[in-house]
This record gives sequence, C-alpha cells and structure tokens, in this order.
Amino acid sequence: MTKIGTASRARVLTGDTPTGRLHLGHYVGSIERRLEMQDHYECYFLLANMHAFTTRAEKPEEIRADTIEIVKDWLACGIDPEKSTVVLQTEVPAIAELSWFFAMLIPFNRVMNNPTIKTEIDTKGLGESYPFGFPLYAVGQCADILAFRPEWVPVGEDQVPHIEMCRFVAGKFNQVYCGVGNRVPEEKHVESGGVFPVPKALVGRIARLPGIDGKQKMSKSLGNAIFLSDAPEEVKRKVQKIYTGRQSPTDKGDPQNALMQFVDAFIRAPGRAAEIKGRYSRGDNIGDGHVKAELVEAINALLEPIRARRAKYEGQGGDDAVIEIIKQGTRRANIIAEETLAMAKGKMGLGFFDRRLGIS
Ligand code: TRP
Repeated sequence: MTKIGTASRARVLTGDTPTGRLHLGHYVGSIERRLEMQDHYECYFLLANMHAFTTRAEKPEEIRADTIEIVKDWLACGIDPEKSTVVLQTEVPAIAELSWFFAMLIPFNRVMNNPTIKTEIDTKGLGESYPFGFPLYAVGQCADILAFRPEWVPVGEDQVPHIEMCRFVAGKFNQVYCGVGNRVPEEKHVESGGVFPVPKALVGRIARLPGIDGKQKMSKSLGNAIFLSDAPEEVKRKVQKIYTGRQSPTDKGDPQNALMQFVDAFIRAPGRAAEIKGRYSRGDNIGDGHVKAELVEAINALLEPIRARRAKYEGQGGDDAVIEIIKQGTRRANIIAEETLAMAKGKMGLGFFDRRLGIS
C-alpha cells in the first residue's frame, strides 16, 4: 500500500453508522483500506449507533440489531479484534462531552451549509421536519474522531466535508485554548502545545462504486446494492442486471460505464482490467455477458471467505461473542477518550479537580 505517515503506529479512526448490511461499495471504498491499515496502525473502528438515532429515533430495536450485524460484517471481512479496537459510540461518554465543547467553536451556519448534511436532507427526504440532532451529528462526528487524536481518518468521498469540519475544529481548539498561533502549520499543532492533531481524510481506492442500476452510487436505500452477505446465485443475478445499453460484442463500449467501473474495482489480476477495458472500448469481440461472467467469478471469489467467516457468528452464541468484542474494545477506547477529555478540559480551565463519579 502507499506509505502513510512516518510513525510506525500512528493512530487511525473511522466508523460506520449502523444502517444495515454492508455492500460492495463499502468494501472497496473503505473496508479494504481498514484491512490494510490494521496491520500497521493503531486502529479504532467506531459503531456510530448514536447517529443512527438521528433518523430512526423511534426504531431502537432495529438500530440495536443493525449494530450487531455491522460488527459481524466487519469481522467477516477480516477486521481482527486482536489488532483493532471496536468502539461503541454510546458507551464512550467523552464523545458526548466533547461534542458540546466543539459545538461552541463551530459556527451554526457552517454546520447547516455542510454539503453532506444538505445532500442527506435531500436524499433521505427529511424535508423541514428533521430533528435538531440530525445536523448535530456532524459536530458529534468531530468528537468521535478527535476523542482518539488520530492522524488518519479513512472514509468514503461523501464524508470529506465532515473531516474538513473536524480539521477546522481541531485547529480552532488548539488556537483558542492551547496558545497555538494561527500561523503554525497544522502538522506542528501538537508539538506547539495543541491537544489535537489536525487529522487527514484518506479516501478509499474506489471513491464511488455505482449501483447495479448503473446510475446512482451503490446504496442500500436505493435498492441497487450487492451485499457482502449475498449468496453466490444472488450475486450472479444482480451482476447480470448491471445496465449498459450496449447491444453486441463488436459495439464500441464506454470504458467508464458502470460495468467497467465494476471491472476496475473487482478484476484484480494484474493487467486484466486494462485488457478488458481496451477490448471493450474497441468493440473487439467482447460481450457484456462475457465480462459479467468473469465479474461474477471475481466477486464470488472475494466474498467466499467473507461468507465463511460470517457463518461463524450467525449461529447460536454469535451475538454474545460480538457483544464481548464490542465490550472489550470500548473499554480500551474509553482509556484514550477519557485521557483526551481531561487534556481538553485542562486547557479550557475546567480542571477544577479530578473527576470521580463514585461508580465502579
Ligand atoms: N458519518 C459516517 C457515515 O455515515 C459514520 C461516522 C460516524 C464516522 N463517526 C465517524 C466516519 C467518524 C469516520 C469518522 O459513514
């Protein structure tokens, strides 16, 4: 992989809102990168279950089930709880506290003009009636990240505006409370006394995978997704549906169409994707059906070990095993997050006394 950072164990944080099963877009956009990173970095993977309540507050059972399912998908993909820390957002109180402090540093209009928030209000059809907590999640996401003081945040392209806001608030905090001058370059904030490194987004190999409709990005809610847990036959059926509009193996095909984007994402044998795309664009006797058959094979080869690992958690005791992993990870996470909160409060003149809540 590309060399990222210099320290051998720089910290990484990223997360997912539990909204259902993961699909291939998640895999190539983000999961794949996490798998590479967990061997080289101190990784924290956050279950943003609080955020799920921003649009589904009246469906707590569904959110709980989705939270467990997403961990099963992570584990199935190869996220290894021995190497990486799985964090449950709602059991890290420092995140909620930091959210308040950060909310004081981020202009209201900056949140409301965040393009990802705007798009979501649109695509989720939230209209005018979304709760106060919906835009607030973007502030909360700054706290999710900064509680761990990471250097890197691997995310999909749509999350970049959130990371920008996080970078803004990290810098602002360091300037307002830690005496970091506003000319100090971001990579020097910590050595200049800032609590927070200014973290950087890392966008995955495939920033945007189209859905099988060939139009919009792959998304569960658009019904155009191939899920990591789909059976081989289901994968085949869905790949066959990828729409291109091309008629014959000798038609010159568009090397950027949805099918070719899938080829780029999933045909990984060296040179093979380029070869297919070359022949496709020349109309060199290569039918869509031909390409699709090869694609089905490649995707199923990728998913086979994922399905096998997932099966271990699908039986009896699976949920308990997952909850234990979440519990252990969250315990480790709270050590770091509490440390961050104490550092931040210290700088804010809030270090009146050591907090002892009298609970064990
Ligand atoms: N908002 C992210 C998403 O929907 C999930 C998320 C929550 C996240 N907190 C995070 C991602 C912190 C990266 C870092 O995909």
